[in-house]
Amino acid sequence: MTPGAAASPGILTLTHASVHLGDQLALDDVSVNLDQPRIAVIGSNGSGKSTFARLLGGLVTASAGTVSVHGLDPTRQSTEFRRAVGFIFSNPDAQIIMPTVAEDAAFSLRADRLRKAESAARVTAALERFGLADLADRPAHDLSGGQKQLLALCGALIREPRLVIADEPTAYLDARNSRLIADHLLGDASRQLVLVTHDLALAACCDVAVLFEGGRMIASGHPTEIIGRYESSLAC
Ligand SMILES: Nc1ncnc2c1ncn2[C@@H]1O[C@H](COP(=O)(O)OP(=O)(O)O)[C@@H](O)[C@H]1O
Ligand SMILES: [Mg+2]
Repeated sequence: MTPGAAASPGILTLTHASVHLGDQLALDDVSVNLDQPRIAVIGSNGSGKSTFARLLGGLVTASAGTVSVHGLDPTRQSTEFRRAVGFIFSNPDAQIIMPTVAEDAAFSLRADRLRKAESAARVTAALERFGLADLADRPAHDLSGGQKQLLALCGALIREPRLVIADEPTAYLDARNSRLIADHLLGDASRQLVLVTHDLALAACCDVAVLFEGGRMIASGHPTEIIGRYESSLAC
């Protein structure tokens, strides 16, 4: 673990995990233990990064092997699991459901069955934290791309998950908004982060990196070393 990093918040364990999507072997026999706070996932298009992220997030199931996320089985303990894990996609439109910004943030709290005043207080605090307080009553789909991703982040983090999985969360954002989103994701080492990214500078900020190729996890280790290995595989 990086010196000075926070204590490990949990362990992700895959044992000979494979995923078939249709006829495609999208993830091929992955075994790994990851207990670092911030985990970068890198590799070329189609290498299996999203399938790995979705497997950890309970969005696809393993066709072979086992998955344990902070001691939970994503498929068998789904209520507790959904409480513990937040997922962020590249495209925030896929995650914004309700008409206004405040309603959308409140929607993420529905399973907690809070009293109205408590829910409103949590929403106000979360919108403040993500710089969206002035936009609370705006139609969510009128926001800019960066504001929408902040709202998606707000929805994923408002329940304080122990693990956040972000699949290329800055892919559609300009440099300023990418930085803002990255600061929110990387800045809190009290929860674990799995960050799929093509932004190797962001990957370098993590505590560990894993490299995918052809559905296999071909390397894991210090980000500098793993990024170097990836870059040298790209050299012409
Ligand atoms: N829904 C699907 N059905 C069949 N094959 C898929 C599906 N989604 C992804 N794949 C295939 O699985 C492999 C891994 O994809 P993916 O995990 O999305 O890679 P990455 O995120 O690294 O680009 C690729 O060969 C891809 O074409
Ligand atoms: Mg992907």
